[in-house]
Amino acid sequence: MLVSPRNVPFLDLTRLHATIADDLQAAYADVVATSQFAGGAVVSRFEQEFAAAHGAPHAVGCASGTDALALALRAFDIGPGDEVVVPAMTFIATASAVRHAGAVPVMADVDPVTLLLTAETVAAVRTDRTRAILPVHLFGHLVPFDLLAAWREGGLVVIEDAAQAHLATWNGEFVGTVGDAACFSFYPGKNLGALGDGGAIVTKNEAVAERLRSLRDHGRDDHYRHSEVGYCSRLDGMQAAFLSVKLRYLPDWTAARRALAARYDDLLPPGTLVPWTDGAVHHLMVARVDDRDAVQTALAAARIATGVHYPVALSHQPALSAWARPAPAAEQAASTVLSLPMDPLMTPAEVEYVCDHLDRSLAHA
Ligand SMILES: Cc1ncc(COP(=O)(O)O)c(C=O)c1O
Repeated sequence: MLVSPRNVPFLDLTRLHATIADDLQAAYADVVATSQFAGGAVVSRFEQEFAAAHGAPHAVGCASGTDALALALRAFDIGPGDEVVVPAMTFIATASAVRHAGAVPVMADVDPVTLLLTAETVAAVRTDRTRAILPVHLFGHLVPFDLLAAWREGGLVVIEDAAQAHLATWNGEFVGTVGDAACFSFYPGKNLGALGDGGAIVTKNEAVAERLRSLRDHGRDDHYRHSEVGYCSRLDGMQAAFLSVKLRYLPDWTAARRALAARYDDLLPPGTLVPWTDGAVHHLMVARVDDRDAVQTALAAARIATGVHYPVALSHQPALSAWARPAPAAEQAASTVLSLPMDPLMTPAEVEYVCDHLDRSLAHA
């Protein structure tokens, strides 16, 4: 018998944080008691924990995922005149970070089914000026690591946009271990979210990590000596303390997301969901539907919250019109993607309820 929940939230952070409220309060009290508001041991500790969680030697915290990408580009000396490939199906920040670094974003189309960059779509836009690529692990689904390795071997700096892919693996290897750097967002709704904004860059390259530590903090060598013009983009101490707490729970929350994803996959007709490979971390659970407005309205009537990631391909973003080039697969995806509820505390009964209503609305659409 189908249980009818009162409503199915998209992601309920209040409910999630209530389960760890004591730990968060203790972290807050500790930071206030020690005044480690900008930098200090609390930030270094989180950086070490986050790097270790990804099997990498270095993580450098910063103020946001967007800054993580821009700082990483700067740390590899990518700037004016350089072209950087970005997928046309992503959040705008992937491309805005390229502009923040002063470089030229070059949009590549995505695979029409996986919505990820492919060897062919990248080769189609590569020129002599292409210095770097920002593959996006969209929805927590990984771009194949053999592709990342091939792009590196082909001379590109590979900076992974892992904003949606904390702890994701490919054949058992963690994200952040193959590219030159992987950039994470700790925006509250991310799989590992701060109670505010934050970001980090994970890298194996010690010199790059050192430069990033300086660049994020006004290009400092020591307190009032600056070897280059940097940014004020520190990860603040309070957020680092909260993130350390939440990182302890992340493996369980990730396992919960994977179990829910498997249930969605079992219940929905083949081809409904954007497919993933083992090791994906399911930041979003995305279906493809033709009549999206009608389906969203039907689900809303059943008190099921949904979202759209993303309704506008980069090729159609007004802010990026100067760099627009056609991306038919991304543009088609933008009008058909529908994000279903995905929350580590969601129950299998809620997944069944969502799938039942989605099936019904697809039959009527
Ligand atoms: C794919 C992707 N890249 C970059 C970002 C930017 O992260 P932030 O919002 O922390 O700047 C986000 C998240 O918002 C994202 O989803």
